Amino acid sequence: MQKLTDYRDSRTLQYPETVSIIIVRDENGRYNPMSASWVMLTSIEPRMIAISIGFQRYTYELMSKQNEFVISFPSEKMAAEVELFGSESGRDMDKLAELGTRTQQATMIDGLLLSEATLNYECVLKDSLVTGDHMIFSGEIVACHKHVDELPRLYVLSPKKFGGL
Ligand SMILES: Cc1cc2nc3c(=O)[nH]c(=O)nc-3n(C[C@H](O)[C@H](O)[C@H](O)COP(=O)(O)O)c2cc1C
Repeated sequence: MQKLTDYRDSRTLQYPETVSIIIVRDENGRYNPMSASWVMLTSIEPRMIAISIGFQRYTYELMSKQNEFVISFPSEKMAAEVELFGSESGRDMDKLAELGTRTQQATMIDGLLLSEATLNYECVLKDSLVTGDHMIFSGEIVACHKHVDELPRLYVLSPKKFGGL
């Protein structure tokens, strides 16, 4: 049997939640990472992915100017990254430098991969759609990279609690 609840309460019932890190280049050549849970694959051929980004985010500002980005799926040892990249803004801080996060150059776009992540997708922006207070950006995946040790992924277990499943 079901009973009515409010939207805020319904969201707490959706944990564990997936999490990714979006990395976008700014006009000075600095790469900014942002934690993002609202990500989904949307097509097999062509290979497409969508992410939902709030209008207030620095990442939104950057995505509106760039046509390339990386979506990285953090491994279990990257909880500190997800926490910092999801609570500080690239307007105020070089987040990658702050934690000394290991990166490597993307192969098909001007982008950065996170070296200790489970998986990285290089994406080319294809379209966008306003949805309430966020914008959905859809991108084509032009290259996929996985960690050589096939590290397990990190999830959001409950608000502000990160770990493996
Ligand atoms: C686990 C987690 C998931 C998040 N998911 C999203 C998301 O899907 N979309 C979004 O716009 N913000 C999301 N956020 C919030 C942003 O990551 C946060 O506001 C960040 O500081 C924005 O950084 P920026 O200003 O450098 O872009 C999430 C934060 C956390 C901790």
